[in-house]
Amino acid sequence: MNNFKNYKFKENIIIKNRFVLAPMTTYSGNPDLTLSDEEEKYYQARGKEFGMVITAATAVSKQAQAFENQISIMNDDYIPSMARLAKSIKLGGALAILQLHHGGRMNYPGLFEGQDIVSASAIKAERDYLLEPRALTNDEVYGIIDDFRQAMIRAIKAGFDGIELHGANTYLIQQFFSPHSNRRTDEFGGSLEKRMTFPLALVDMAIQTRKDYANDDFIIGYRLSPEEYENPGINLDDTKVLVRNLSMKNIDYIHFSLGNYKQSSIRDEINKKPIIEILKKENLGHKKLIGVGEIDNLDKANHAINLGFDLLAIGLQALADENVVSHIINNHPVKKVFDKNSILPSNLYERVKRWRNLSDRGFSFDQ
Ligand SMILES: Cc1cc2nc3c(=O)[nH]c(=O)nc-3n(C[C@H](O)[C@H](O)[C@H](O)COP(=O)(O)O)c2cc1C
Repeated sequence: MNNFKNYKFKENIIIKNRFVLAPMTTYSGNPDLTLSDEEEKYYQARGKEFGMVITAATAVSKQAQAFENQISIMNDDYIPSMARLAKSIKLGGALAILQLHHGGRMNYPGLFEGQDIVSASAIKAERDYLLEPRALTNDEVYGIIDDFRQAMIRAIKAGFDGIELHGANTYLIQQFFSPHSNRRTDEFGGSLEKRMTFPLALVDMAIQTRKDYANDDFIIGYRLSPEEYENPGINLDDTKVLVRNLSMKNIDYIHFSLGNYKQSSIRDEINKKPIIEILKKENLGHKKLIGVGEIDNLDKANHAINLGFDLLAIGLQALADENVVSHIINNHPVKKVFDKNSILPSNLYERVKRWRNLSDRGFSFDQ
């Protein structure tokens, strides 16, 4: 049996429990991409439950916006909106972590007039509804690193406890690491090492920005997807090298974006070992590791910790059940019905309701 409460996250920082609200886009920002009242209520409710809350992917620039009504931190005018977001999370005693995001070639087309869809290279993602992106120039790549820097400075000013670089789920940071989307021949592509240049430059930028504008307590995390389905695509050998490099940097955590916390390789079906067991061997012991994916009861939470995760993120289950952490820690059944007590922004509720296969996970909707 593991202890889930009062967990020492880093020097000077004890969090009330090891559960993390997984970053989840709400599609519910105001039309001007500031935080809506519905989102504020949603975060306030989760801040009471979770030790740490990672926000929805937040666009670092106008070009970065991937979704309709995605909250933004693209210029200083957004600091008050971001300050409301940080405050709503911290009111209940959770750490507030802002997920910094650029969608790259995954940006949904037609979000605004003059939209500029870019990526490492002009290679379209394998999805019908997306467009072929424009390859970024070398100068523009440095410009995007600066967009992330400015966004991080705003996050510090807005009162966040930390930031997470969204290097997962096929968005721009991952697009630079991926041999599918990155066919560049400058310092940002051409070999595995060079495909790491952009992700690691962002990490170095974040460490320097913390030094310049915050203090050591400010948290820096990196989220990654260990594999891709595409061919060529990121495989576990690539990811071993990336996590080894990340573990040598002065960051606080690595967050593995997985469909199931105990998932094995999606590319090598013969190897049934959980991915976390394979990657943990790369000497990651001194970084906090966050796992995610279908964690909805105490047995799974204990199993995930025993496999090697330090903190456990919860996504969908936290949307249905506003008291999910209390239920899991006390070994009570979680609530699987999405209803008015779930305290969800309406667009998010409607989106999730339209998703297929949620009944396979035991979820239902009251209307
Ligand atoms: C509605 C929804 C929105 C999501 N948006 C994000 C996001 O903004 N950033 C991100 O890194 N992952 C996002 N995810 C992925 C989740 O963080 C999580 O990894 C995934 O849902 C698996 O965990 P679960 O089984 O507990 O739901 C989203 C998931 C859902 C359900």
